[in-house]
Amino acid sequence: MLSTKQKILRRLREAQDYLSGQELSEDLGISRTAVWKNIRNLKKEGYPIEAVTNRGYRLSAVETEDADLFNEEEILRHLKTAWVGHPFYFAAETGSTNEDVFRLSGQGSPQGTAAVAAIQTAGRGRRGRQWISPAGNIYMSILLRPDLSPEAAPSLTLVMAMAVAAGVTEITGLPAQIKWPNDIVMQDPEGQFRKVCGILTEMRVENAEIRDIVIGIGINVNQTVFSEEIRETASSLRLITGHSVSRSALTAAVWAHFERYCTLFLDHRGFAPLREEYESVLANRGRHVRVLDPAQPYDGTALGIDERGALLVRKEDGSICRIESGEVSVRGIAGYV
Ligand code: BTN
Repeated sequence: MLSTKQKILRRLREAQDYLSGQELSEDLGISRTAVWKNIRNLKKEGYPIEAVTNRGYRLSAVETEDADLFNEEEILRHLKTAWVGHPFYFAAETGSTNEDVFRLSGQGSPQGTAAVAAIQTAGRGRRGRQWISPAGNIYMSILLRPDLSPEAAPSLTLVMAMAVAAGVTEITGLPAQIKWPNDIVMQDPEGQFRKVCGILTEMRVENAEIRDIVIGIGINVNQTVFSEEIRETASSLRLITGHSVSRSALTAAVWAHFERYCTLFLDHRGFAPLREEYESVLANRGRHVRVLDPAQPYDGTALGIDERGALLVRKEDGSICRIESGEVSVRGIAGYV
């Protein structure tokens, strides 16, 4: 069911010329004041609506796919999934979208439910860190209730990493790769890999069974300034592409890729059918890495992943180690990857 605001937007998009306030009010069965208020709200959200006395309203022709309008209507316009993002909730600001989805899950919301926000005030990162969440980026989380054992959950983070990499590549036209297990990286103009997205998967288990899983994604889209701590390793799609990127289109693209990959994963009850494709975008592959094993850090070469998503590293003595995601950190020797 479209809201009045959405109906006005649709009418303006369809119209070839100006639409008068009178026409809109008659078409939609609302008062002229209601038309005016909705137009004012649309303008506040960034829609380039021109108002000309005696002619009415027109959506400016400069409205392009590139304009970064991030709200419920725009996401709906790009939405092409069957279950991911059904339903979804958009907030201009929230504490943490992971927290929001856990709350929705508790209220009985179905698998695929998503929360999206333009700003987070209590964003969570991996290893108990904060995820600083300023305006300009995407913060979103998706609910899953898979019929799997809790041990299979970490692989879902890898599934999401593939979806983000595919979505970013689709929208920017530039290669996005994965730093195992789940950071999305892109090369800056100097060829250095930089993190543009982090993923945090959280799970609630009851009687040794999964109650719910929330996968949260933070994508640096149009952010241009980074704090000192992450300035050397992070970047954004805007800094890498040189132009602003549509967050609504990217959100919908990531959901579509996630739906496809996740369905494969759930149908096959494992990562095996995705392994080859994951490896094709694995930035660490063939690179010299340092494994920060708390017992004894060691260096080696990343070979790829196994059927369960563990990273395989050949140590300098020729032996091969299997690293489960979340167990230890892996760093590049020469750079971030
Ligand atoms: C990381 O540390 O790399 C993972 C960061 C994950 C951040 C996202 S933003 C949306 C979702 N909500 C949160 O509170 N965290 C995740």
